Amino acid sequence: MLAKEILITGAAGFIGYHTSRRLCEAGMNVIGLDSLNDYYDVGLKRARLKELEQYDNFRFYQIDISDKNKLDAIFNENNIDVVVNLAAQAGVRYSLVNPYRYIESNVSGFMNILEACRNNPVKHLVFASSSSVYGANNKVPFSVNDHTDHPISLYAATKKANEAMAHSYASLYGIPCTGLRFFTVYGPWGRPDMAYFLFTDKIIHNKPIQLFNHGQLSRDFTYIDDIVKAIVALIDKPPVASPHKAGQTLDTSDSFAPYKLYNIGHNKPVQLMEFVQVLENLLGKKAILEYKPMQAGDMYETFADIEDLTASIGFSPQVDIKEGLKHFVDWYKKYYNVV
Ligand SMILES: NC(=O)c1ccc[n+]([C@@H]2O[C@H](COP(=O)([O-])OP(=O)(O)OC[C@H]3O[C@@H](n4cnc5c(N)ncnc54)[C@H](O)[C@@H]3O)[C@@H](O)[C@H]2O)c1
Repeated sequence: MLAKEILITGAAGFIGYHTSRRLCEAGMNVIGLDSLNDYYDVGLKRARLKELEQYDNFRFYQIDISDKNKLDAIFNENNIDVVVNLAAQAGVRYSLVNPYRYIESNVSGFMNILEACRNNPVKHLVFASSSSVYGANNKVPFSVNDHTDHPISLYAATKKANEAMAHSYASLYGIPCTGLRFFTVYGPWGRPDMAYFLFTDKIIHNKPIQLFNHGQLSRDFTYIDDIVKAIVALIDKPPVASPHKAGQTLDTSDSFAPYKLYNIGHNKPVQLMEFVQVLENLLGKKAILEYKPMQAGDMYETFADIEDLTASIGFSPQVDIKEGLKHFVDWYKKYYNVV
């Protein structure tokens, strides 16, 4: 592997936990960082960390990436050669409630990550973007070569900003940067603010679940193990600059700079109603449905074109929604002692 020492930011988060775990199992030295903020149950973040602490090759720092001095100190104390930036204020809906948190973590915090990469011998920066950058686009599947000029939430706008900021640093300082547009990631140890987790919780506790846009939504649900497999493979593939000929129009997903964007999705959108039925079958219980109008900031459909990722690392999603939700429900019942 390219990396000897990898910094995973957001290591106590859902994707960060699974990625850290996989890399520890592969024998890498993993430095985990997380602010452990209270956007959702901090107990769950601590429980994920407890799992990671069983590995001798895992070390953890509780800091906020928007604290430049503390972040720089971590780079000074260690020989970090690859950074995987997963720390961010996630969630579309919360960006309407607390927009400044998104600027602090996703814009100022990301700026500090870029500066740290500039000032240290970092060989590759892999960073989380999101399918939400496709915003109001209605041509599906979404391709990394489509424009992303119409974000419909501040969350999406910060992710688009990350892509542009990373491109500028790849161009100015030659830092290889790979941006990953994740599509609705789910699985064990998942995020309590996301529909699959909220719905499971509410169905089990006989509470109504809310179906926005009267249930007429679909998402390209992507199982966590497929996501982690792709992240781990891409760590070892820092992008190289493509020669740029005069007069040639640049693709949106790569560049004359060492920069590349990928979609990581399942490439098979699932209708919300179908998704609810899978959960009902797994839980052996009917959901109480509450139909609601479309929510501000939400997209109607997400659907990933994954051709580039398949060409680059042979990516082929393995876990479908029935199997993936089964793993999630099994974990949920065990974690929360549901009999
Ligand atoms: N899960 C998905 O479906 C999905 C989809 C698209 C994009 N993403 C992106 O992937 C990344 C990981 O998402 P996740 O689902 O694991 O979310 P998560 O909220 O579980 O993980 C993010 C972690 O980052 C930490 N964090 C937040 N702000 C921080 C800061 N300023 N400094 C240090 N730590 C901070 C949080 O405490 C949390 O543990 C995020 O960038 C998110 O925007 C996730």
